[in-house]
Amino acid sequence: MDSGAQNRGQWGSKLGFILAAAGSAIGLGNIWRFPATAGQNGGGAFVAVYLASIVIICFAVMIAELALGRNTQRNPVGVYKKLAPGSSWKYFGVLGVLTGWGISSFYSVVAGWTLGYIYKTATGAFSNASPQQISQIFGDFVSNPVSAIGFHAAFMVITMLILFGGVKSGIERWSKILMPVLLVILILLVIRSVTLPGAEKGLAFLLQPKWDELTGRGVLAAVGQAFFSLSLGMGTMITYGSYLSRKENLFESAAWVCTLDTLIALLAGLAIFPALFTIPGLEPTIGAGLIFVVLPNIFNKIFLGGLFGTGFFILLAIAAVTSLISIVEVPVAYFVDELKWSRKKAVWVGGLGAFIVGIPAALSLGAVGWLSSVMTIEGRNYGFLDLMNLLFGQYSLIIGSLGVALFVGWRWGVSSINKEIEQGHPGYRHQALYGFLIRFLSPIIIAGLLIYLLIDPNAFA
Ligand code: PHE
Repeated sequence: MDSGAQNRGQWGSKLGFILAAAGSAIGLGNIWRFPATAGQNGGGAFVAVYLASIVIICFAVMIAELALGRNTQRNPVGVYKKLAPGSSWKYFGVLGVLTGWGISSFYSVVAGWTLGYIYKTATGAFSNASPQQISQIFGDFVSNPVSAIGFHAAFMVITMLILFGGVKSGIERWSKILMPVLLVILILLVIRSVTLPGAEKGLAFLLQPKWDELTGRGVLAAVGQAFFSLSLGMGTMITYGSYLSRKENLFESAAWVCTLDTLIALLAGLAIFPALFTIPGLEPTIGAGLIFVVLPNIFNKIFLGGLFGTGFFILLAIAAVTSLISIVEVPVAYFVDELKWSRKKAVWVGGLGAFIVGIPAALSLGAVGWLSSVMTIEGRNYGFLDLMNLLFGQYSLIIGSLGVALFVGWRWGVSSINKEIEQGHPGYRHQALYGFLIRFLSPIIIAGLLIYLLIDPNAFA
């Protein structure tokens, strides 16, 4: 083990790494963003493209990110600087650090809503409320500047407190305790939702592809969602890989993370859509507010709904915290490695910076008029939060993943990454297949999508 690895800390165990990486992957992306985006893009066909992207593109990109991190023991900028000194590749790493801030800006805001909803559901704010009243409560809550910023701040403080502890005692310990709890509560919710009378409609929406309704924009959203959900494209998995021991099997680790993450997203879809379609007047296309407007209706209709509701939002806050620490960890690792800052200073600057960038997003759900509608594309309104979500949560990650695939396939080289994979994976025999995936298939598909975007800018959003 090289000394750099010791200074930077390492995961304490294999399970610790898988849980921490799955903790990064599983978050608002699965439970808030996946249903909202699937709902806006027609359901089943979106889900099919999302699943296909995971198998065809994301699995290979995840192995690439983990291998880059483990090989170089660096942050996303340091990786490119070390393996391609003096070249422009490092700007993909810089994009990743900026994307970390961009994503945390809206991520912490939505995570803050979950804190507010824990309180609301626990104190019975929604009990006996009509669907209209429930939407009103959400609208009032997110448009109140004090609570919007207050909960955003509270969430960022929690995140920073965990990050101060460092990689092993912080991220890993929390993930180990919290992730299994999350799975259990989610399964309970799914059982409740799919047994509601009329649940078939939601199941069909989620699981039966209607291909003629799939647009280019839907395909891009599905691929972007796969990257977002798996924490790929901004260097999170590079950073987590840099704390990974050479003894670990990268294929196996990546397979575990992809499987667990996809399972949770599908479970979230199964919890939300069947129930959604049993409530007249609610549409799957609502967007960012989807789960917050829909779920309280469902909790009202079920036995011990208040308890289910509180449990659900606790679960969501837990999932969000284990993801947000991994998002903020990217700028933090950059400061520690490249600027030689102490971890403490890096966390202060990383966390405060993310908080400040998040303020306009927090104020964009009605508190400040112009932030609530910064752009309209084909009749769809984009507030500041939606725009950040689209630019950083979708496009930045797609570009960053293209960078990783091109770099590994064409610059670092297929034989180098295969050598890295072989460490910890005796008997590894998929060199040719992996080379094909990372050198040709992933970059061609991602670049093809981006070129399509240039040709048809209407597909942008
Ligand atoms: N994957 C996380 C989630 O699903 C979000 C995330 C995106 C984390 C990008 C790191 C990097 O909530």
